[in-house]
Amino acid sequence: MVKKIENGILYFDGCNTLELAKKYNTPLYVISENEIINRCKEIRESFLNKYPNTKAVYASKAFLSLAMCKIIEREGLGLDVVSGGELYTAIEAGFPAEKLEFNGNNKSASELRMAVSYGVGRIIVDNTFELDLLEEICKSENKTAKILFRITPGVKINTHKYITTGNKDSKFGIPLNENIIYPAIEKAIKSEHIEFIGFHYHVGSQLHDNRSHLAALETSLALVNFTIDKYGYTPSELNIGGGFGIKYTENDNPKPLSYFIDPIMDRIERFCTEKNLDMMQVIIEPGRWVIGEAGITLYTIGSIKDIPNIRKYVAVDGGMTDNIRPALYQAQYDAVIANKASKPKTETVTICGKCCESGDILIKDINTPNVEADDILAVFSTGAYGYSMSNNYNRNVIPAVVLVNDGNDELIVKRQSYQDMLRNDLVPERLR
Ligand code: LLP
Repeated sequence: MVKKIENGILYFDGCNTLELAKKYNTPLYVISENEIINRCKEIRESFLNKYPNTKAVYASKAFLSLAMCKIIEREGLGLDVVSGGELYTAIEAGFPAEKLEFNGNNKSASELRMAVSYGVGRIIVDNTFELDLLEEICKSENKTAKILFRITPGVKINTHKYITTGNKDSKFGIPLNENIIYPAIEKAIKSEHIEFIGFHYHVGSQLHDNRSHLAALETSLALVNFTIDKYGYTPSELNIGGGFGIKYTENDNPKPLSYFIDPIMDRIERFCTEKNLDMMQVIIEPGRWVIGEAGITLYTIGSIKDIPNIRKYVAVDGGMTDNIRPALYQAQYDAVIANKASKPKTETVTICGKCCESGDILIKDINTPNVEADDILAVFSTGAYGYSMSNNYNRNVIPAVVLVNDGNDELIVKRQSYQDMLRNDLVPERLR
């Protein structure tokens, strides 16, 4: 466990969180390198080393920085990017382009051109518009792109509706309508500039149940079957996306990776044996599962407002600018007062942020010891979609990110400054 309590103080990957708060100021994102290492080890043991011909790519949208690219590369994973900015970050970090995958439902011509010229390993084509655009770009650059088709498998998902992606009514993926998907497959097979490799699906996020993955798998295998029978062409890769759930609070009961992987691999192996095919290459794309529990956020408590018989609001020096998930998805988090981590919990408070927005509530009704100004609050499992979804609402600055490992701490993203926020502001001459 990277989380420990010693003398009533919270330690994270060997670091005293109170000292981190003092040294780097708050709000502060803290990322445990050992937790990432442990997760990647589980990926290798339960998937990459257990099953031959497999790949794992980290969905970088969950958390990306130059240092993170280095860790992911060292741990033997590939990287999934979904924008020119993520792609640029990976390339600047020296991440091998052939280990990159490019996802996204509206890749622009310039983003696709970037990907083609860098030689990105796989482009996950999301729609037929993109297929045409990519073919044109490859033709003009005289290059070939290796592609998977992202399909919309049309399965029911048990998670927040904003983070489901695999249901029929979705902006993501090619609908399984024969007038849409079949001509696309045919075109890709015939194209001189596109190498059609296989299919991709991603059903949703923060899942504790493998049934939607398995249902989507059936749909994908039927499509593989169809492609072989109709066109005599054998797709060789299947990317089953990410979405594996983590623990935010006591209500979450996350499963080991093998709970998702084993039945999926078993089904694909049976399919390939029955069809007399070489085993397909299987790819997973976890984001949250790798980084979510590796991150905590430290805040300093400021104003405390007790409304008699109604609610006690405890405000922190951050909020929906560094963690928009509670406001956007009613996401729940657990937290401790890092300097009173062993004290009995005697009150129930609501942790709110400092943004001018009533919905800027980080945790509703959490039990804590007696909270006072200047206490340090540590919110757990903020590694995924915290920093990556941070914003400058109210011109609050985006916090720094510190990497911790066995008691060592290193800054990997500097805190934004007020000057940083003004860097792109311009005042036309006539207004000066
Ligand atoms: N692959 C694809 C194609 C995806 O669209 C996603 C997430 C992933 C992989 C990684 O999913 P994960 O393993 O992290 O669940 N901002 C939301 C999550 C949006 C996820 C979008 N796609 C949140 O904070 O919960």
